[in-house]
Amino acid sequence: MLLKGKTIIVTGGSNGMGKYMAMSFVAEGANVVITGRDKERLENAKLEIAQLGDHIEVFQMDVRDPDHVAAMVEFTDKTFGSIDGLVNNAAGNFIVETAKLSPNGWKTVIDIVLNGTFYCSSAVGNYWINKGTKGSIINMLATYAWGAGAGVAHSAAAKAGVMSLTRTLAVEWGSKYGIRVNGIAPGPIERTGGAGKLWESEEAAKRTIQAVPLKRLGKPEEIGDLATFIMSDKASYMNGEIVTLDGGQWLNQFPF
Ligand code: HXC
Repeated sequence: MLLKGKTIIVTGGSNGMGKYMAMSFVAEGANVVITGRDKERLENAKLEIAQLGDHIEVFQMDVRDPDHVAAMVEFTDKTFGSIDGLVNNAAGNFIVETAKLSPNGWKTVIDIVLNGTFYCSSAVGNYWINKGTKGSIINMLATYAWGAGAGVAHSAAAKAGVMSLTRTLAVEWGSKYGIRVNGIAPGPIERTGGAGKLWESEEAAKRTIQAVPLKRLGKPEEIGDLATFIMSDKASYMNGEIVTLDGGQWLNQFPF
């Protein structure tokens, strides 16, 4: 019961890593609101997560719309009476050669990943600042935020922006308000949106696993465990940190 009594919002929480983080939070005693664009997917995820505990609610929204974000904060506060954590997990991505990426394709991913993270962080951060309470934010990154994202230039640029925002807010909001802001940089994780899009063929999956020193994909439950620790009071001195969970993949520059 590491998170007993805490209320946590997970954007993009109806599937993939978002859903598994929500499951882990609920299992550890938290109240959780998952958000997403598709009502049916949200309701299905709620049914699944409710098997672990009944403190789960859904809110249909698009992180690209600041009005939706404001309504989501109000809904969470009204439903559970407080907000203690936010996971900026909602993402958009597709593989495309950069030369073929349209301005709107670029803008769409930047809007979801970078702007959406800012809108949600700003709304929840201001909620804490106005109330004089503290909270914790986790931003979902990717190791290509500091490496190279060949074929996903839009996502890599957006995640690099989110990495910068993570560190900046950790200092700005940490110093003034005691708000912690950290990031998780997952490698290839099974049963996620990324798995479906970035290494969907058997060939691509094999190549991916070969590049991971531990020779397997990560499990979304492992992301849930890490996020639970970072959200909990056990990590109360962790701020501005970006934790990589990739089986050592990004270090594998010279595989043998
Ligand atoms: C080229 C594409 C494209 C593709 C979309 N576009 N898919 N261009 N190749 N495969 C272009 C469209 O042509 C359009 O540009 C623009 O992008 C917007 O497309 P829409 O379909 O209108 O956008 P929208 O309905 O808002 O959908 C957003 C989306 C979609 C990102 C395209 O895939 C989505 O909603 N995804 C959410 C879930 C997701 O992607 N999860 C995976 C995250 S994985 P034009 O010019 O034609 O108007 C992840 C992994 C991280 O982040 C780390 C892994 C290690």
